[in-house]
Amino acid sequence: MIEAQSRERSVRQRYAAGAKERADKLCCPVDYDSEYLKVIPPEVIERDYGCGDPSGYLREGETVLDLGSGTGKVCFIAAQIVGPKGKVIGVDMTDEMLEVARRNAPVVAGRIGCANVEFRKGRIQDLALDLELLDRELKQNPIADAGSFLAAHDLAEELRVKHPLIAGDSVDVVVSNCVLNLVEPKSKRQLFDEIFRVLKKGGRAVICDIVSDEEVPEEMRNDPELWSGCISGALTEEGFLQAFEQAGFYGIQILKRDSQPWRTVQGIEFRSVTIEALKGKQGACFERNQAVIYRGPFKEVLDDDNHRMERGRRYAVCDKTYNLYKKAPYREFFEFVDPIVDVPLAEAKLFDCSRTARRHPKETKGQDYDVTTEANNKCCDGGSCD
Ligand SMILES: C[S@@+](CC[C@H](N)C(=O)[O-])C[C@H]1O[C@@H](n2cnc3c(N)ncnc32)[C@H](O)[C@@H]1O
Repeated sequence: MIEAQSRERSVRQRYAAGAKERADKLCCPVDYDSEYLKVIPPEVIERDYGCGDPSGYLREGETVLDLGSGTGKVCFIAAQIVGPKGKVIGVDMTDEMLEVARRNAPVVAGRIGCANVEFRKGRIQDLALDLELLDRELKQNPIADAGSFLAAHDLAEELRVKHPLIAGDSVDVVVSNCVLNLVEPKSKRQLFDEIFRVLKKGGRAVICDIVSDEEVPEEMRNDPELWSGCISGALTEEGFLQAFEQAGFYGIQILKRDSQPWRTVQGIEFRSVTIEALKGKQGACFERNQAVIYRGPFKEVLDDDNHRMERGRRYAVCDKTYNLYKKAPYREFFEFVDPIVDVPLAEAKLFDCSRTARRHPKETKGQDYDVTTEANNKCCDGGSCD
C-alpha cells in the first residue's frame, strides 16, 4: 500500500523531470489548432503532457483557470482566444513546470500583444492555499517542533481565508488537461468541490482526462509508475461524471470520447474524454407559470433535479430552470410555453422544485380564458395562405 504522500511525490518527481526534458510515455497525441501554436516557444510545445484540448470550448473575454498547467501550452492558447478582455490563470504544484511556464509567458505576451496569463503555485485539490505565500512564511518561521507544526497549520488556514490562491466565484471556465487523475483518491472529492467553489454561478468546467472502462484494482493503484503516468489514478467513465454531479454540477455531458484506448493495461482500457459540467442551479425557485415540453426523440428524460419528463407533455418548471433550458445545451430539446399573463419576478411565489408537476393549459392561459378566434394566418409559412 503506497501512501498518498508518496503518490504525490512520484507525480512531482516525474513532472519535474518532464519539465526539463520531453518524456514521451507521458503524452497522448493531441491535435491542437496550429494557428495558436505559432506564437508558443518550442520547449513549451514539446513538453506537452495533455490528452485533449479544452481550449476549443473557450470564448472571448472569459476568465479561465487551468488546473495542472504544466509548461503552459493550454494557457497560452487560451490567452489568444479570450483576448485582452479575458484572463488566464495556470495553477501547478511543480516548481520546474512553473519555471518553464513563467519564463515563456513574457515571450508569448510580446507576440500576441497582451499579458493576460499568470501562473500560480498550488495543489489543485486545495485551490485556496497559495503555496508560495506559505513557502515565504515558513522560511521566516521554520517548522522545528510540534508547536511550530501546529502554528503552520493555523497559518495555512489563515492564508486560505485572507489571501486565497483562487477566490470563490471568480472564474468563468475551469479547464484541465490530463491532471485530475493524478490527485490521490482521498482528495478527489475535495478536488471536485474546489472546482465548483472557484467557478462563478453560470460558469462551467471543461475537463480533458483519462478514464478507465473498469474499476482499477488496488495493486495497480499502488504502482507509482502507473499512477504518475496518468493511468492508475483514473476514475471510471461513469465515476468521472458522477463526481461532477456529487459536487453540485448540472448539465454534465461528454463532449468528446476517444473510441480507441490510449493504453490498455491488464485488459483495462484507458482513454481520453472531454466533459463539460455547469454551475448555476443554486438559489431559490420561483413560480411564474411557465412550462416546457420535451420534444424527444427519447420517450422520456430525467433532468438533474429528478424531474422525469415524457415526450410531448407540458411540465411546470421554476423560472430558473425555464431560463436555463432556454440556453445551450438544453434549448434544442424543449418547447417553451409562457403564460398569457406574465407573473413579475418580484411578485412570484416560491416553486417546489422537488417534485415533477404537469402544467395544465388552463394555468398557462388563466382559469377564465374563454376566447374564440378566427383562423390565425400566421401558421402558414411567410404569413400567406394562398
Ligand atoms: C500530465 S501533466 C499535464 C500538464 C499540462 N496540463 C499539459 O497539457 O501539458 C500533469 C501536470 O499536473 C501537475 N500536477 C499533478 N498533480 C497536481 C496537483 N495535485 N496539484 C497541482 N498540480 C498538479 C504536474 O506538476 C504536471 O505539470
